[in-house]
Amino acid sequence: MTLFPALPARGWLLSILIATASMPAAGANNAQSSANDQSKTAGTIVVGQDYHSYANPDVARVEHLDLDIAVDFDSRTLSGSADLRVVLAPGAQELRLDTRDLEIRSVALLDGGEQRPLTHTLAPVDKNLGSALSIDLPADLASPATVRVSYRTDPGAAGLQWLKPAQTAGKKLPFLFTQSQAIQARSWIPLQDTPAVRMTYNARVKTPPELLAVMSAANEPDTPRDGDYSFTMPQAIPSYLIALGVGDLKFQAMSDRTGVFAESALLADAANEFADTEKMLKTSEALFGPYRWGRYDLLILPPSFPFGGMENPRLSFITPTVIAGDRSLVALIAHELAHSWSGNLVTNATWRDLWLNEGFTSFLTSRIMEAVYGERRAQMEYFLDYQRLKEELASLPAGDQILAVDLRGRDPDDVFSRVPYVKGHLFLTWLEQRFGRERFDKFLRNYFDAFAFQSITTDAFLAFLDKQLLAPYDVVTMAEVNAWVFEPGLPDNAPQPYSDAFERIDKLEAKWLAGELALSAIDSDAWSVHEWLYFLNNLAKDLSPARMVELDEAFDLTASGNNEIAHSWLLLAIRRDYRQAWPRLEDYLVSIGRRKLIQPLYEELMKSDAGAEFAKQVYAKARPGYHPLAVSTMDDIVNPG
Ligand code: BES
Ligand code: ZN
Repeated sequence: MTLFPALPARGWLLSILIATASMPAAGANNAQSSANDQSKTAGTIVVGQDYHSYANPDVARVEHLDLDIAVDFDSRTLSGSADLRVVLAPGAQELRLDTRDLEIRSVALLDGGEQRPLTHTLAPVDKNLGSALSIDLPADLASPATVRVSYRTDPGAAGLQWLKPAQTAGKKLPFLFTQSQAIQARSWIPLQDTPAVRMTYNARVKTPPELLAVMSAANEPDTPRDGDYSFTMPQAIPSYLIALGVGDLKFQAMSDRTGVFAESALLADAANEFADTEKMLKTSEALFGPYRWGRYDLLILPPSFPFGGMENPRLSFITPTVIAGDRSLVALIAHELAHSWSGNLVTNATWRDLWLNEGFTSFLTSRIMEAVYGERRAQMEYFLDYQRLKEELASLPAGDQILAVDLRGRDPDDVFSRVPYVKGHLFLTWLEQRFGRERFDKFLRNYFDAFAFQSITTDAFLAFLDKQLLAPYDVVTMAEVNAWVFEPGLPDNAPQPYSDAFERIDKLEAKWLAGELALSAIDSDAWSVHEWLYFLNNLAKDLSPARMVELDEAFDLTASGNNEIAHSWLLLAIRRDYRQAWPRLEDYLVSIGRRKLIQPLYEELMKSDAGAEFAKQVYAKARPGYHPLAVSTMDDIVNPG
């Protein structure tokens, strides 16, 4: 690790310490208090400090986890133990872990074959962060030491969703999946729940024998189905990437290193929908460097999965709502795959730095889509994202429009927006345009190599950018870069994505509205899903009820089987008070739990009295099937206060 000569921004030493993080700082003292009992919002942000973890990795840092848990669907709990191998700074007196709603049964030091009980205290609950588990360490303990925490999860654990058989495709057996990002790993494993700490892990998971367990680790595709499963994750990863799925899963290979796990009913469709995964993987390797994780498989979850996808290493978790039948929504796979470089290999050190994960990944996604499906499609997808970002910026407080966002005192999950994604993407496109694709590609590869398997701050990235691009080529100033990263909104010279395919649609719409063109005369059969989305998202704001009927009759939009098209149409139906679509809307909201698809619909409904009444009634039906994260978001919208 070289030190960076030109250091543009503050806190570089801390960033570099975190980036290297091979040993806790020598002489680290135990008096260093947790991130969170210090100022929550006052004062300047300490770069590299994780305000969302109580862990004390400077003193005692977990480097390996051995997990041994049993999955009990009746009580909706996981129980067992987490053995944490901890690297200690000289004089370390305390190991501090994150927990949330965990029942801690015992804590012991593993000493040869012996277990020595350790005194520990569980702090009072913080609404956003859970409770710190402070474990007293004996004096002069040799490093590394292994601490065993025996525990049980709560049936309402925020990072787990327990599904009844009726909520699965097969309807016969239950399903469980985890969602650890951002700070939910602590609700199912006691650990140092900060992306600055990386660990390897092994796990043994016991389940009912008819179910299969899979994890973000080496999975054996033909392991015997016996309810006793073992996993190894040899690469060091942050806690938010530890993941588990348990269900009536089958496996189908797509290539010799990619495949799908899904319930039988979905398996063939999923494998067909995502058949380009290997192509995407090869493309990514050519662009960004070797894929360093062995296999790349997909796990198709039930529709209540609150995200589109989650980049759990070696095994991305994927919503079934993108299985459209025509591969139109597979940018999601490119996105989760791209995280194998941006995010999983080079990781945001704190949640403030999330844009390093999501902005880079959005940029990489676009590059993969362009290489595999052509520039036209990549541009359309970029433009649609850009439009949604512009809309969102109009309503976001200035502070939340900043890439390096201040999250102190807040739950990172509540601050979720398109800013880290699309503004980050725009920033990187801007750099690419300024330096030229060739130089920027080289920079990207160097970046992934230089920081592979490290967690870095925004400031560490800026120092690297300065050294690799700004200083050698005199085309961009640090002031310009700082405006992108630390100022709200978009800089005046921000790139403006453009698609001529969409310009064509504008013209057709204008002709239709002017009465010069019938809908039946439009070549809409040849439209891609992206053209449909553009069309629906940009229709005149004052469309009359008769026009809505005309659209629906011509294109059968209420019955669209494409979940993105249905989303855009239903949003429009709410805005234009087109109630013929409400039964479909109800069905959509009850059967899908993906936050991005349902949240805007509830928000729009809540703007009118009749809509609010409908929303409350539908939500009462839908809520029991939603994931805890979706419930917490939707509760605030539909039943605030
Ligand atoms: N890692 C994210 C999901 C996430 C981000 C969970 C922050 C919790 C906190 C995942 O890679 C993602 O971005 N999913 C998007 C995909 C889309 C942008 C293609 C989603 O779920 O919609
Ligand atoms: Zn992502």
